[in-house]
Amino acid sequence: MFEVNKIGDPVGAEIVGLDTSGEIDDDTMRNIEAAFADHAVIVFRDQNLTPEQQLAFAGRFGVLEINTFDRHALDGHDGILVVSNIVEDGKSVGYADAGSFWHSDMSYTATPPRLTMLYAIEIPHRDGRSIGNTLFASAVDAYDALTDETRERIADRRAIHSIAAKKRGIKKAIKLDPAQIEKNPDVLHPIARTHPITGRKSIFVTADECTGIEGLEDSEARPLIDELAAHVIKPEFQYRHSWRVGDLLVWDNAAVQHVVDRDYEWPRDRRLLHRITVNGSASF
Ligand code: OGA
Ligand code: MN
Repeated sequence: MFEVNKIGDPVGAEIVGLDTSGEIDDDTMRNIEAAFADHAVIVFRDQNLTPEQQLAFAGRFGVLEINTFDRHALDGHDGILVVSNIVEDGKSVGYADAGSFWHSDMSYTATPPRLTMLYAIEIPHRDGRSIGNTLFASAVDAYDALTDETRERIADRRAIHSIAAKKRGIKKAIKLDPAQIEKNPDVLHPIARTHPITGRKSIFVTADECTGIEGLEDSEARPLIDELAAHVIKPEFQYRHSWRVGDLLVWDNAAVQHVVDRDYEWPRDRRLLHRITVNGSASF
């Protein structure tokens, strides 16, 4: 049996004493799923995984998704997206812009991934501390903290999520090819989203990917989106993950939003992670 230690509040736990490269029996998997439901962000420490082993373990959580940013797929492994700022021979080895603003992965799709898994291979350090931390905010605890009045305002409302909105508020615009935009038409998701496993509600709105609210004028929708998005990312709902090489971290996209701390510099501070997403279901 492994150990689960809470490392964040309200989300974040580390799992120690489990090797995810080998066979995981069904009982162990049930215990992992229970820890995941409780903590929303879990990190398996000290892992040493080949791409095949990471894919096999991710597959225990559901059906793997092939990311739309396929030009950064790991060679020979469509299910793995390379997240990295490293440039070799003038070419980016991976996707360098992942997580530049607060978001829930691929919320601009009708069935966003249930979870995302990042495996830390190279992590930059400065003054003995790891940099390029990833921050997570509990959209569930943020919902619980809303006033009754705001809950009523958002009940039964749906927000518009748009891949094309990704450029908003970012200094260096993310390059999207027209095919990506065409493949991902705008979608609607409930603002107060129910978690399919825990049954808890969360706020499913982000400032940078939501462009409006169904049935509301922009003059009313925009301030409400900004207010809700700012509420989710308040410090009291956040966990800051300081990466260690060998961390295998999994987060629940129906429970948390995340962003990377861009305190690292290119090309000096090398950062390399392998990312897998697992399919989710329609929101409700
Ligand atoms: C992602 C992401 C942030 C990071 O991979 O979905 O947002 O810290 N990554 O690399
Ligand atoms: Mn992300």
